[in-house]
Amino acid sequence: MRTTPLSHSTLLEALRKDKSTIYEQKDIWETHEVELEQARVFTRHMHSQTVSPALGAALRGNFEGVNRLLDIGGGSGAFCFALAQRYPQIRCTILELPTVCQIAEEEYIAQAGLQDQVDTYALDFFKDPFPNGYDAILFSNIFHDWGWQKCLYLARRSFEALPSGGHIYLHEILLSDTKDSPVVATSFSMCMIWVTEGKQFTAGELEQILTECGFEDISVTPTYGYYSLITARKP
Ligand SMILES: C[S@@+](CC[C@H](N)C(=O)[O-])C[C@H]1O[C@@H](n2cnc3c(N)ncnc32)[C@H](O)[C@@H]1O
Repeated sequence: MRTTPLSHSTLLEALRKDKSTIYEQKDIWETHEVELEQARVFTRHMHSQTVSPALGAALRGNFEGVNRLLDIGGGSGAFCFALAQRYPQIRCTILELPTVCQIAEEEYIAQAGLQDQVDTYALDFFKDPFPNGYDAILFSNIFHDWGWQKCLYLARRSFEALPSGGHIYLHEILLSDTKDSPVVATSFSMCMIWVTEGKQFTAGELEQILTECGFEDISVTPTYGYYSLITARKP
């Protein structure tokens, strides 16, 4: 990430153009689909960011009774590893772009020694139907990459793919209801404007998206640092 530092001018440009400027306005995920090395660097960056919050979420979140979890946009698998270590019965699948699946397989899953519990599934989550056979679907640091309608789309596809009683989990740094604090969340939100199409959400906004798709029993659990886990159930 050192090769693409955040500066005032790139942020200002992103705000003015309402477009990510991290790769000189090329789409970040399309770039990673063809540039294996850039995908590798980004995946390492996300891995280091998510390792500790994932441990906190696995510890404080409720994943009891989950047997097969689909980690959508799961990157290196950092979240799956934390869950697999805490819940020996769980089997996790990292759903990712083909390049990132390759990186997760080559660099992370074997190194974690969790080949029996974690595998990958190459798919574009906006183009392909979600696979069935999972009783839980997780999005960690995914909703903040997209605008409201695309998040609604992802939540709807999840609702359709889950069985009755299945759970959805959203792992995000949340903004306060007034969206002007905490400063880590507002700063992170600013970075999302620079890097992606999205920004951070409030708990209420994510609850609204899940409710609109039919999910029930929504709860918000602070899990680690500024991260929270939003959990909901398909009736
Ligand atoms: C911000 S990272 C989050 C990674 C991980 N979940 C975490 O919390 O560290 C977003 C991930 O979504 C993946 N992604 C983006 N668009 C995708 C798509 N259309 N289909 C599948 N994966 C996608 C990217 O490759 C990237 O690994």
